[in-house]
Amino acid sequence: MKVAIGADHAGYLLKEAIKRHLAKGDIPFSDIGTFKMDSVNYPEYGYKVSVSVASGGYDFGILICGTGIGMCITANKIKGIRAVQAYTVEQAKLSRLHNDANILCLGGRIINEEEAISIVDTWLNTSFEGGRHVTRLKLISQLTGL
Ligand code: RB5
Repeated sequence: MKVAIGADHAGYLLKEAIKRHLAKGDIPFSDIGTFKMDSVNYPEYGYKVSVSVASGGYDFGILICGTGIGMCITANKIKGIRAVQAYTVEQAKLSRLHNDANILCLGGRIINEEEAISIVDTWLNTSFEGGRHVTRLKLISQLTGL
């Protein structure tokens, strides 16, 4: 499993905490920035991670901004991306089971480190259920062209 991770300034500290956690679990990841707390524009990082996941270079992406909202809006505009903004473990789990979400968006100003780690672990360790959900995901692609 390979993970691409990115954040803006509002997600920077949580990104660093998640990186430490991934490293402890020997989960390979690439950090595409931002690399400091100076103010930046989240779409640049959301776009980079999304394209690297959509092109097959990574299995999953994790994006963090202040709320997770801007990153999620950006990511879902890229063909092949199914991004979820999760504030709870339950949302994270269902987004994998039912939606085969391939990008997880988190809010660095909304959830704390402990909550984020539980959400990330659940999300990375839950498999897509398939079955009736495949039809629905195909429909999303057909109807939107994305
Ligand atoms: C930055 O202030 C903030 O707008 C951004 O991190 C994010 O929350 C946008 O959705």
